[in-house]
Amino acid sequence: MLLKSLLTAFGAALLFASQAWAQAPIVIKFSHVVAPDTPKGQAAERFKLLAEKATSGRVKVQIYPNSQLYKDKEELEALQLGAVQMLAPSLAKFGPLGVKEFEVFDLPYIFPNKTALYNVTEGPIGKGLLRKLESKGITGLAYWDNGFKVMSANRQLRLPSDFKGLKMRIQASKVLDAQMRALGAIPQSLAFSEASMALQTGVVDGTENPPSNMYTQKMHEVQKHMTVSNHGYLGYAVIVNKKFWDGLPDDIRSKLEAAMKEATTYEKAIAQRDNDMALEAIRKSGKTQIYNLSAQEQAMWRNVLLPVQKQMEDRIGKDLIQAINRETAK
Ligand code: LMR
Repeated sequence: MLLKSLLTAFGAALLFASQAWAQAPIVIKFSHVVAPDTPKGQAAERFKLLAEKATSGRVKVQIYPNSQLYKDKEELEALQLGAVQMLAPSLAKFGPLGVKEFEVFDLPYIFPNKTALYNVTEGPIGKGLLRKLESKGITGLAYWDNGFKVMSANRQLRLPSDFKGLKMRIQASKVLDAQMRALGAIPQSLAFSEASMALQTGVVDGTENPPSNMYTQKMHEVQKHMTVSNHGYLGYAVIVNKKFWDGLPDDIRSKLEAAMKEATTYEKAIAQRDNDMALEAIRKSGKTQIYNLSAQEQAMWRNVLLPVQKQMEDRIGKDLIQAINRETAK
């Protein structure tokens, strides 16, 4: 009698536990380092909305913006350990993972315009680069965009010689290190979360980023000059922990893939608009003098910076650089 009642109680507990497990939401912690009102920040929120709706709440996306959970260097390790499930790091930040090829996106003037860029990221070259992440326990889902970068400092940056001796904050990318050295500047790799304070305290003299990052981090308030150089590109790879992603129920994973596809379309639609609005807001603030290079000055910047492509062939791969140059010349 006792055994029967024990088995009944155990069976009931097991049933309850399995039902409870069946109801427990699948949590995706999505950590990133920028402000919510940036293209990446808004796209993360859009993915959350779409993913939770598509899975009828079986998936819960928790977004941690502004380096709240992890800073630059920590976030990739946290993803590999499974402490977070999703990130969207800048393509400049995959070198420390051992996937140096991603730094091809940092090469000065490698993309003449967004169309050429999308032909690369949405074509076989982009897909091939994402596949390189698999051996690191990471699955690449999409590329998000943040556009071309401007340069800033407390002196006017009109000619390459204006950079001489300036300490310039960069992302942790050997290509960006070479870029700044080609200009005669002194590159200082700092986490994005430390960039504004470093500019404010004079730890560094200047930096580069798309206007949306400059504006949302208030960098324009501590930089007297900004040059709309568009000398380089800044984009993202949306990535997940591979074990987590492969372990999802098939129906959930396909719903999340569809949500990511829609969020990516949204992100690309707002990226240019947001950066144009940020640049206009910086201009209106009156805190920074914005300078547009003349054609002659642009040619001088290209003369100094284009050789970085050849200089970086050994690190990135000559074939990859040539493949992108062929693709973008079409
Ligand atoms: C930076 O570190 O400057 C950027 O990668 C920040 C970002 O993620 O846009």
